Amino acid sequence: MEEKNKRETFSTGFAVFFATLGSAVGLGNIWKFPYLIGTNGGGAFLLVYLLCVVLVGIPIMSCEFYIGRKSRKNAVGAFKKLNASKGWKTIGFMGVASAFLIAFFYSSVAGWVYSYVFKAIKGDFAGVTLVTANTKFMSTLVGPLSPIVWQFIVLCVVSIILIAGVKNGIERITKTLMPVLFILILICDVRALTLPGASQGLKFLFHVDFTQLTGPVILAALGLAFFKLSLGMGTMLTYGSYFTQSNNMIATSAKVALSDSLISILAGIAIFPAVFSFGLTPSEGPGLLFKTIPLVFSKIPFGSVLLVAFFFLTAIAATTAMISMIEVPVAYFTEEKGIGRKNAVLLTTSIMMVVGILATLSAHPTSVLGNIHILGQRGFFDSFDFISSNILLPIGGLLIAIYVGYFVKKEDFKLELSNQGTLNNDLVLNIIYIFIKFISPCLLIIVFFNSIGIIKL
Ligand code: PFF
Repeated sequence: MEEKNKRETFSTGFAVFFATLGSAVGLGNIWKFPYLIGTNGGGAFLLVYLLCVVLVGIPIMSCEFYIGRKSRKNAVGAFKKLNASKGWKTIGFMGVASAFLIAFFYSSVAGWVYSYVFKAIKGDFAGVTLVTANTKFMSTLVGPLSPIVWQFIVLCVVSIILIAGVKNGIERITKTLMPVLFILILICDVRALTLPGASQGLKFLFHVDFTQLTGPVILAALGLAFFKLSLGMGTMLTYGSYFTQSNNMIATSAKVALSDSLISILAGIAIFPAVFSFGLTPSEGPGLLFKTIPLVFSKIPFGSVLLVAFFFLTAIAATTAMISMIEVPVAYFTEEKGIGRKNAVLLTTSIMMVVGILATLSAHPTSVLGNIHILGQRGFFDSFDFISSNILLPIGGLLIAIYVGYFVKKEDFKLELSNQGTLNNDLVLNIIYIFIKFISPCLLIIVFFNSIGIIKL
């Protein structure tokens, strides 16, 4: 940063796309999406998820980009800069809280992935069977010491990259490795599709059985859409604040949402055929990825190398997603509290480490803290996830849509998103505005009230 008041920006449109995709693509696609499809009954969940991405995700991402680039501020400072009345800052504070809650369990799962890279390099998965895949995962998960050490390593890596700054750190990594991850998932797909009984997995993933759709299932799909696209907590807002003035932000939103969904579906195609072929159950839960992928790569040429590459790239994807998540509190602490960037990063990641241990030690019923329940039947791990994904992010998204739809002048919104009239996208802007003002908020309210039982669909 050359001048004190000059914020860094991403260098090109290409870099903007990959950095934003780097935030969206992560454990959400490869770990959470398949396991939630598995526990929520398959195709019907997928359909609702995709509807949420289009009807709510893209409009809200556009709103976040708008607020971020227009204000060139962090999630809390942005509302002040745009002269919004004081209460709107709440969105920013909720975002900072969500970043912490997500990071508590996300760093834990990222730690399992890092440890799988290490195990795969050591050749631990040679001759893997259903039984050994299961034991390996359980020992990774239950620890108790090793998952904490891996979580610590993850947070150290993330801190180092974050201290290096926006451009140097985030851009370089995402631009190079995203395409490689994509190719690797495609290789997995080819392998999975040639397994005996693969079609059963595809049927599970794509067959829509509407009887599966209950209030909580729909809420879970909505929460996943927010989590996946890093929405409702100011991450995309903060990234928007680093965008160049010439970026077509509506196009970026659509491209990121669609590419991200494609990667999730491809991950599903890699996993479900294998689940059925190797005799696992789709509703396996958080271990689904970790149990199936070693089996997918077993007994094929170069399988052990591909397995290392797969977990390595998943680790990178998890790391870049975490970087964007942690950027929310870091930008807040540096810009609003005047804390230096390095100290802000260390403060944030230290809190994440200390409280994150609670998530790590409660990830399974047999874990050290596995029998402590704080939200109904949920332990720390699941509660951090539920409160952030299914409550805070959708409420954050709703407030963002209401702010832009009702408290920002339509002309201002259109001017910013058409790059001062240079883009010629009037029709698209009018359509997206209708979504922001009416459709997305209504859907959010209906899903939310339905899931807490105030209205019955
Ligand atoms: N979108 C990320 C994923 O799907 O893995 C998770 C995430 C990153 C959520 C950043 C929120 C966030 F701010």
